[in-house]
Amino acid sequence: MNLELQSLSWAQAATLKTDALVVFVGQGARHEAGLIDSILAQAEKSGDFSPAAGQCMLWWKPPGLRTQRLVMVGVGEGRAQDVRQGVTAAMNALKKSKTEVVTLCLHGGLSAHLVIAAQAAADASYVYTATKPSAKASLVGKVVLAVDNANHAKTNFAMAQAQVAGVALAREWGNRPANHATPNHLALAAKQLAKHARITCEVLGPKEVQRLGMGSFAAVAQASEQPLRFIVLQYKGGAASQAPVVLVGKGITFDTGGISLKPGPGMDEMKFDMCGAASVLGTFEALAHLKPALNVVGLIPACENMPGGKALKPGDVVTSMSGQTIEILNTDAEGRLILCDALTYAKRFKPRAVIDIATLTGACVIALGHLRSGLYATDELLADQLLAAGDKTLDLCWRMPLDEEYAEGLKSNFADVANVADRAAGSVTAAKFLQRFAKDFPWAHLDIAGSAWKSGAAKGATGRPVPSLLAYLSSLVPERPTSAKKTTRA
Ligand code: BES
Ligand code: MN
Ligand code: ZN
Repeated sequence: MNLELQSLSWAQAATLKTDALVVFVGQGARHEAGLIDSILAQAEKSGDFSPAAGQCMLWWKPPGLRTQRLVMVGVGEGRAQDVRQGVTAAMNALKKSKTEVVTLCLHGGLSAHLVIAAQAAADASYVYTATKPSAKASLVGKVVLAVDNANHAKTNFAMAQAQVAGVALAREWGNRPANHATPNHLALAAKQLAKHARITCEVLGPKEVQRLGMGSFAAVAQASEQPLRFIVLQYKGGAASQAPVVLVGKGITFDTGGISLKPGPGMDEMKFDMCGAASVLGTFEALAHLKPALNVVGLIPACENMPGGKALKPGDVVTSMSGQTIEILNTDAEGRLILCDALTYAKRFKPRAVIDIATLTGACVIALGHLRSGLYATDELLADQLLAAGDKTLDLCWRMPLDEEYAEGLKSNFADVANVADRAAGSVTAAKFLQRFAKDFPWAHLDIAGSAWKSGAAKGATGRPVPSLLAYLSSLVPERPTSAKKTTRA
């Protein structure tokens, strides 16, 4: 789906020749004298339409207008979530028709929600086709964002394009089944990203990982026929002296649980266990578009978690790259075992912050459901920045605790640490495990087990948390001084 930004007055937009014109109606909207306004006034009067968020009405070839379809959609109070709901409703209303171009009227205050609107349109338009060639590629070809003044919306539009592309890539890799998204496939996707300017990619295999001493990561991969990959992406947009942000994405391309085998029903969804990795790929795609003056490193430990004759067994003790030994009490708690070595590896970049993103625990789904990702942080500023980025993009997270008492259950008689504690506060104890390997830098951990994909009829990856990662990263770029502040030389 293509995005386009256009300067159009409300009067121009209202008489536009297009496949579908989407008009947003807020509570207490002022009605002007135009044709659309009179249609609206009548529809409201008759009770057929109300401006509550998500309310939607479609006209085909409304007489007097040049649009093929007119969609009026309520946006209630006009908050970001109302606009998102409105765009989603409008796109769904157009699903059955062959609409090539959709024009969204984002006039007045609505232009502040341009990124939200563009993302909602792209999300509704996305169709998975990689292993389903019979599916129609995308719902619409082009979405035009009509605003009063395109110049004023330029920055938001650049963000919208970058974020939409990033989320799309994350959804795509999240959705691909494990036999089409092996560790090597992920590495090739990362190499593909390195074709963009400022991005480089290095891929390590089993030998190099062994040589680095990543005994914990290697142990998870050891029963799989698919060789592990350790992917190192670098985006260099800032001065060489600028400390990078490191993103670490869990890349379990399939999680059977290993010898601690998962039950059969629903196990297919464990193809999504690399959504953290996909969010790192997506964020790099977005960085390639946005080109911020920042340095970012992306680390992806990628492997399958399989049972078999060579598999890791409960009770086995492995040595992590940090030197800490780990007693594996449950081979299904594998995410933390691959992430801990990646966190140790992150140290070499002398990072300003490290954020790991992982579909880490079913317990996080129990705690927060599918709305908010779990956020853990050892640094208050980093936590506040990520919470704010989530609020801004509606890609929400919620701060979770890291009290030392929660680490009690990770004690082992046979190693420095055990890989699981008891069932209580399972998302927190997983974070406490990771924290042991993240002592040398400000660190945050996003448990996206509930937010990375949807189950049921709408089964599929969401592309989260690419929006908040991108918003966080761009919030770090110092604003360029405006021309007004420029000092003239004497
Ligand atoms: N990938 C899973 C977490 C998961 C499960 C995410 C279900 C989303 C839905 C992870 O590797 C896992 O299996 N975690 C275990 C940890 C337990 C053994 C301590 C879990 O959550 O059951
Ligand atoms: Mn597991
Ligand atoms: Zn897992």
